Amino acid sequence: MDKIVVHGGHRLSGSVKISGSKNSALPILAATLLTSEPCTISRVPDLSDIHYMLTILSELGCEVERASGVVKIRAEKILSQAPYDIVRKMRASVCVLGPLLGRQGEATVSLPGGCVIGDRPIDLHLRGFEALGAAVRVTGGDVKVLAPKLRGATISLRSKFGSTVLGTDNVMMAAVLADGVTIIDGAAEEPEVVDLANFLIAMGAKIEGAGTRKIIIEGVKELHGAEHEVIPDRIEAGTFLAAAAIAGDHVRLLRVNPLHLKAVIDPLVDAGFLIEANGNEISIRPGVKRRPLKLDTLPYPAFPTDMQAQMCALLATTEGISVVTENVFPHRFMHVAELKRMGADIDLQGATLVIKGVPQLSGAPVMASDLRASAALVLAGLQADGVTEVNRVYHIDRGYESIDEKLNGLGAQIERMKA
Ligand code: UD1
Repeated sequence: MDKIVVHGGHRLSGSVKISGSKNSALPILAATLLTSEPCTISRVPDLSDIHYMLTILSELGCEVERASGVVKIRAEKILSQAPYDIVRKMRASVCVLGPLLGRQGEATVSLPGGCVIGDRPIDLHLRGFEALGAAVRVTGGDVKVLAPKLRGATISLRSKFGSTVLGTDNVMMAAVLADGVTIIDGAAEEPEVVDLANFLIAMGAKIEGAGTRKIIIEGVKELHGAEHEVIPDRIEAGTFLAAAAIAGDHVRLLRVNPLHLKAVIDPLVDAGFLIEANGNEISIRPGVKRRPLKLDTLPYPAFPTDMQAQMCALLATTEGISVVTENVFPHRFMHVAELKRMGADIDLQGATLVIKGVPQLSGAPVMASDLRASAALVLAGLQADGVTEVNRVYHIDRGYESIDEKLNGLGAQIERMKA
């Protein structure tokens, strides 16, 4: 199993190209199941999660061709049951349920299990399918949804932690082929939901309100093939902003959408960094003095849970006391014990971290069993004294395209080694 070895103390500068969004690409690839015609999706990042999704689509019967970021898919004749062996590797596989139900009238997928960022139920997805007229059965570890014909309905997807992103995607994908009008109340407002809606609209779907709390979908008889370019990955971009804040002199991010990153840029400015956004570029430089922060994760447009760990790595060496509260996944703190092993002073109180900045971290062998937590450890290693070995690197490869090469391009010294 590979590990990433970070030699700390090398300053970052220069520019880095941001990849297409993983969290957009996954449901968009699943949405190609909704038509028998060919679809072409570009700017698809080269990640293991994407590989799993393409394998699931192939196993379901799709013809899949992939060449340098462009994926061509034709779902001419498909099955309704996703294979367990692949589904279990990635929770986002659950987003094939909606399109399969919409197109085939039935779908079976293994219940997502073994997720390390706490209990991640899919009750809201299932509630949405039931409201559309589907029967839901859970047997033998599988969830089966069945509805020879879906009917439009008004559905609330609000949970005590905010809305659900993949749940909104799933219900939207099922509803595009339902009879009549579906209204999703309490919809997730994330840019990735808007990107999926734009692809569905390009396929002939009738959708209004994506990006707001209320999405209105008028069912159509069938969808056709379409082409679509995936939006830039705002979490990868945010991670590079955090890396630059931790160890950078002047770093430019290229091919980003600054509007999607306001909730990350604003706190970095509050923390003392000089940030300029211009068209599809963002540059970041250190200011005169760094300041601690108070951060609360919440659904978009607020500060994202997917950036919590990386910002903790920054705040661990920011003088003063920072307070970070995780409201979306209240158990998402896999990075904390590992950052403490590197010398961070962090106290976990319920779902709140109290971080007392120390001047410098020290390199150590670390590992984390979560994608963003692992990235945070790489970032911490950039500034740490000595060598940081981040083990179980497959978590990083799930969601970051060549993070080691991109950071090395900015001046970091990172090696990838067989453990
Ligand atoms: C997506 C993102 C993930 C991000 C998360 C929150 C993808 C592939 N993944 O995950 O990177 O961290 O949004 O921004 O896009 N919940 C329920 N019942 C449900 C569904 C969710 O209670 O049926 C709860 C969850 O436990 C969590 C909250 O709602 O507390 C938000 O989860 P959700 O938005 O569904 O996350 P995902 O869509 O799985």
